[in-house]
Amino acid sequence: MNVVPLSDLVEAVVVEALRKSVPSGAEAVVRRSEFADFQANGALPAAKKAGRNPREVAADAVEAMAGDLFEAVEVSGPGFINLNLPTKALWRQVAEQGAGVPQAWAGKKVYIDYSAPNVAKEMHVGHLRSTCIGDALAHMAEAVGAEVVRKNHVGDWGTQFGMLIQYLEENSGAEWHEGISQLNALYKKAVRVFDEEAEFAARARDRVSLLQKGDESTLAVWRELVDVSARAFQETYDRLGVSLRPEHLAGESTYNDHLDAVVDELLEKGILEESDGAIVGYVEGEKGPDGNPVPLIVRKANGSYGYGATDLATIRQRSIEGADLVLYVVDHRQALHFRQVFAIARRAGWLESCRPVHVPFGTVMGPDGKPFKTRAGKSVTLNSLLDEAEEAAGRIGIDAVKYADLSTSRVKDYVFDVERMTELQGNTSVYLQYSHARICSILARAGEAGKVSTGIVMSAEERALILRLDDFGRVVAEAAEASEPHRIAEYLFTLAKEFTAFYGANPVLKADPEARGNRIALLEWAKATLAKGLELLGIEAPDQM
Ligand code: ARG
Repeated sequence: MNVVPLSDLVEAVVVEALRKSVPSGAEAVVRRSEFADFQANGALPAAKKAGRNPREVAADAVEAMAGDLFEAVEVSGPGFINLNLPTKALWRQVAEQGAGVPQAWAGKKVYIDYSAPNVAKEMHVGHLRSTCIGDALAHMAEAVGAEVVRKNHVGDWGTQFGMLIQYLEENSGAEWHEGISQLNALYKKAVRVFDEEAEFAARARDRVSLLQKGDESTLAVWRELVDVSARAFQETYDRLGVSLRPEHLAGESTYNDHLDAVVDELLEKGILEESDGAIVGYVEGEKGPDGNPVPLIVRKANGSYGYGATDLATIRQRSIEGADLVLYVVDHRQALHFRQVFAIARRAGWLESCRPVHVPFGTVMGPDGKPFKTRAGKSVTLNSLLDEAEEAAGRIGIDAVKYADLSTSRVKDYVFDVERMTELQGNTSVYLQYSHARICSILARAGEAGKVSTGIVMSAEERALILRLDDFGRVVAEAAEASEPHRIAEYLFTLAKEFTAFYGANPVLKADPEARGNRIALLEWAKATLAKGLELLGIEAPDQM
């Protein structure tokens, strides 16, 4: 069941009432309010439009609404309109409303590019954010009705693979099939030899060209490297409980066959140019710290393609496939790269009906408030963080890490602190899961389904909880629009606190039959909403804790 949220009803009535002053229409600007169920601020801009006094415009609107939907409507302050709904209408909402979400993105095809670790390297703390945020955005986009295409743009191509494959060829005893940590260790050794031995470096470069030319035996080793890595990534995804699967893998190499055509097209259109044998693209206004323009390097002088070329081919392909929106959930340090790629793609005419958005995020900090590193100064692996969380709190420890990541405003840095993340009090998943389990237990003890009587009185806590629950769909739609999962987390935290306040002051099991029926129905709605909200964030909602 999914009836219209109350704020939408209020909105429609206020818009209509404002027509009295502005016949061409004015926005209602409806908000929740401390002093009433809702507050409409639209009379102020409407008055400006009409060249009239805002309080008068508000008073006219109030008159037009008389006898309508509301229990009480009045002008307040400089021209705000305070609106109270009849208790009956609120109870009716409890009887009919579920945790539904408006289908604002129905018919939209949304690509989400996220996680994207690098082959032969372990996932590190930076990939935690892309993976958790990207997965939440995927759930959110689906909730508002979009068709979602998940793309895991893993780093599976480039000169480093020539180096690694050459090293493995020359050290045939080196065992690396056991898993990614072993592989990662060999990778580091290969880098060291490459830096120290010029002859090895030369052989590694030959290996790169063999790989790029498609030499079968070189490709065979490369494929194995990708397989071993992809298996490790999948284990981490399963551990994290995110929805990425092998079929979402679309690594950089996927676009190899498109690169020549893409570069030719861009050269023909005059968007890329030659510079000292390399092919580069300049974007208006993009300057480095020294004030000189910084180009996107598309092809190096030695003929090899880089990250820039791959992302150009990728964005072109996505637009051809009919993507309306492409979200790139990638570290804020890559902002320049994406501005360049998007600007070049736009000039090439590939973005007529496709909107790319870089969704950046802040850094995970260590206990010292600096970017998280091991004592030896190495980057911290994602699995070691998950180990720590699991040791502290078991499965819900991993949920707590995800929730802490998602509940922080996306662009902010945060400190990784398992103790704080798993606290029972405060804005943690543990608190939300506990609230959910508590509602489940009350409902189980009640042993009957809610049954609403619309005629009975309503307490202040009931009212607050109902208005909050009714707001869920709007919050999800706005969070999706802004690519901000933390808005859902914030909402759920407020909801859980309002549930606690409600339950503290309003007995359920011991209430008289009518109040009891209503309160059970209210709890059913709260339970569904908490569970749905947690699901959007990729967090489990256990019935018991
Ligand atoms: N593999 C890259 C990294 O670990 C991220 C790739 C992001 N996606 C993209 N289309 N460029 O930094």
